[in-house]
Amino acid sequence: MSTAASTSTGAEREHVPAVDPLIAVGQRRLLGNYRQAPIVLDRGKGCEVWDTQGRRYLDLCAGVAVSALGHAHPRLTATIAEQAGRLMHASNYFYNAENLRLADELCAKLGYDRAFFCNSGAEANEALLKMARRHFFVNGQPERYRLIAMHNSFHGRTMGAVALTGNAKYQEGFGPPLAGVTHVNYGDAAAVRKAMGPDVAGIVVEPVIGEGGVIPAPAGYLAELRKIADEHGALLLIDEVQTGMGRTGRWLGQQHDGVVADAVSLAKGLGGGFPIGALLIKEKLNGALTPGSHGSTFGGNALACAAARTVMAVIEQDGLLDAAAKNGEHLARGLAAVAAKHEKSCSGERGRGLLRGLVLTGGADVRTLLGAVRDRGVLLTVAGANVLRFTPPLVVTPAELDEGVAHVDAALTDLGW
Ligand SMILES: Cc1ncc(COP(=O)(O)O)c(C=O)c1O
Repeated sequence: MSTAASTSTGAEREHVPAVDPLIAVGQRRLLGNYRQAPIVLDRGKGCEVWDTQGRRYLDLCAGVAVSALGHAHPRLTATIAEQAGRLMHASNYFYNAENLRLADELCAKLGYDRAFFCNSGAEANEALLKMARRHFFVNGQPERYRLIAMHNSFHGRTMGAVALTGNAKYQEGFGPPLAGVTHVNYGDAAAVRKAMGPDVAGIVVEPVIGEGGVIPAPAGYLAELRKIADEHGALLLIDEVQTGMGRTGRWLGQQHDGVVADAVSLAKGLGGGFPIGALLIKEKLNGALTPGSHGSTFGGNALACAAARTVMAVIEQDGLLDAAAKNGEHLARGLAAVAAKHEKSCSGERGRGLLRGLVLTGGADVRTLLGAVRDRGVLLTVAGANVLRFTPPLVVTPAELDEGVAHVDAALTDLGW
């Protein structure tokens, strides 16, 4: 397998790269549940990755908002190597030091009181949902189990998370969904108010709709939901799996609206590429999940927690929140200029911090653009039906963003859009 480096940006892209025969193994041996691009990634450094054929790509998707420190960050790789040689996993029958330190640091930094650790975003939301219902159960209101969630939201792939997800395509074919979820339009606080009742346990919301098309909450929306929840004695439950840990320029997306939820779910950027999810709660919810009522074998293992501590420390020490805010604005300006130039196919840009989307219009197929941009050596993803999504590492530079935007511009030109 070749690991030859290539940092060229021009001439080599003229050639169609040789296809790695491993792709045939993927087609034969992997479940057909993904739509992988025909490249096999081999290694990375910062915002660059190389495939097994030695071709270099600029990674502006970061494993879908995960690799916050980019690839092979020296501090993160050193932490993981050191911790793997010390203690990797010991179960939740015992405390482990990295787990305790992470819980303390996360709660102190993000304004919460207690943490539950798991391994993914869906698992964090499963815990969020179970905790909300059980909170009312243990407090003598078992009838209070309904959850208000949003159309066009995305909360993950477990049956519970899929039930919260306001998009029928993720539910189709999986039998009856979990009962007791009401979906209303995102951004419409009046619709939430109308849907409230004495049976409602909580309101579940993303600060920016991520998978559904990079749609930021209107100003004041989360604050209004906070008010509605309080008026009804219900919980405000915020899914920050995609928006959390600096992605939007603050530690949490809810901070843009000055809101503190009763519970918040995290994953993606939390471990900078090492799998970890978390549920953070305010003290009033402690006692809902009593011993034996919920858990995770791998959740909170020492290795994942050590990785997350280092990610947090680097975000803090390297000023990556401010960088995400500033570079997010830079990216927004670049995308707005591209949209203005290609107004036949682009209606504009939207997002917050380094969660941004170029919105296509007029029947322009976003997957065609995604492939054309990838062929030019830039990795991005799609969100919703028509949005080209940027979720670069938080360490991305303005020059790297400019390079990516220039390739999107050129790809649109090549396509005649
Ligand atoms: C807002 C949100 N919640 C939950 C999830 C699910 O996370 P995971 O894929 O880690 O289960 C995602 C993933 O895209 C997400 O964007």
